Amino acid sequence: MKAALSSIRCAGCGWVPPARQAYPFRCARADHDDVDHVLVRILDTAAARFPGGLEPDPFVRYRSLMHAYHMAMDAGLGDDEYQQLIGALERSVAAVDGRGFGVTPLSRSAVLSDRLGFSPAGGVWVKDETANVSGSHKGRHLMGLLIHLEVAERIGLISAGDRSDLAIASCGNAALAAAVLARAGGRRLRVFVPVDAEAGVVARLRQLGSDVVPCPREPGAAGDPAYLRLREELAAGAVPFTCQGSENGLAIEGGQTIAYEIASQLAGTGLDHIVVQVGGGALASACAAGLREAAELGAIPGEPRLHTVQTTGAHPLERACRRVRALLPAGGAGPVRRADAERALASAARHRSAYMWPWESEPKSIATGILDDETYDWRAVVGGMLTTGGQPLVVSEDRLAEANGLAAMTGIPADPTGSAGLAGLLDLREAGVVAADERAAVLFTGVRRGSDTAPPGPADRG
Ligand SMILES: Cc1ncc(COP(=O)(O)O)c(C=O)c1O
Repeated sequence: MKAALSSIRCAGCGWVPPARQAYPFRCARADHDDVDHVLVRILDTAAARFPGGLEPDPFVRYRSLMHAYHMAMDAGLGDDEYQQLIGALERSVAAVDGRGFGVTPLSRSAVLSDRLGFSPAGGVWVKDETANVSGSHKGRHLMGLLIHLEVAERIGLISAGDRSDLAIASCGNAALAAAVLARAGGRRLRVFVPVDAEAGVVARLRQLGSDVVPCPREPGAAGDPAYLRLREELAAGAVPFTCQGSENGLAIEGGQTIAYEIASQLAGTGLDHIVVQVGGGALASACAAGLREAAELGAIPGEPRLHTVQTTGAHPLERACRRVRALLPAGGAGPVRRADAERALASAARHRSAYMWPWESEPKSIATGILDDETYDWRAVVGGMLTTGGQPLVVSEDRLAEANGLAAMTGIPADPTGSAGLAGLLDLREAGVVAADERAAVLFTGVRRGSDTAPPGPADRG
């Protein structure tokens, strides 16, 4: 295995972390200007090979695409030792959560395909994340980070005695996943939550050993208090154990396992569309990158069109996408050449605040997990939509409810956030953008929990 199969750099300014840095998570130049600084992991797809193995654990199966693996091999760690490291982590995850990571199911749903009027040639493919670790896809992002942290210690980039505590701001699926994984990794986690965080979630986080810090709004201070406290904690040296590429660029890579799995499960056949619900944008960013790499590595015939779903309550990604499109020569719909898209995005990323800023009003929706007031990973997601010819959809509350009712017919217990991609697909079918003989995938990302019947509360920040 060649060492330099992947590299890390800031998509906004080109900054490259120094070699052998234990925590190459955030651009050193972030916070000093209006540039959109996000570290990205770049895979050399000319040199890599798409793994054809059948290992049930995605972090083992797709290890040869991961930066932590490249780092480990470069430092002389053996493949066996790397696999054992993952095996040990998985046993700890299972001890904490009752299950470890495994490839999650993808299949054509006959009931949804019929209900949405697809022909036998086309249909709706559902990737079911509801039985994944802690009940959502979020743990994928964080398991990728945990493996990186373990490898960094194993190869001597940092000693276990010097390890920093982990931190996250969330009171939803991301916090629950972070608490499980921090516990499994034997690491201390501080979770910043709003004062009105759901009591059941807070109790579970504490049960998992996390230090939960309620963050009241300071008079006169603008912005989310939990996020502001997180930023202070990170500035003081905590490791961002978050599901946002803007805080930790390597968080995206673990999420890419969902796309790699889809590529393997399609077994050489293609997909025409994938419809992904967007909060902070890490999931869609991971799908865009993972599917692009899978296509470049020949695992799928081509990239599906990436469509995204936000609610009428808040759609900062749709707003940003519209503004970036206006920079393009044609300005219209349809796929854009990668070079043109990159040029427009590079220009937009130099003036972030003209494209992405907090949604002005406090959003409400039954899809509480996608109410983030900013789409932190907007650049990568807009890029994915532009180059594949996808659309940023904004769906109504009725549509979200309809989709959740349809999702229940599959027998998968998805919550309204988890089934929001299906709401987008309903809109796309109605508009004739997705034809009856086409193949479209949706991700049922979050399990219905006891509290989902409660009226929608404020944004759960993922
Ligand atoms: C179940 C579920 N699906 C999708 C999302 C959206 O993911 P992202 O914030 O990465 O866009 C979230 C975020 O909280 C979620 O909880």
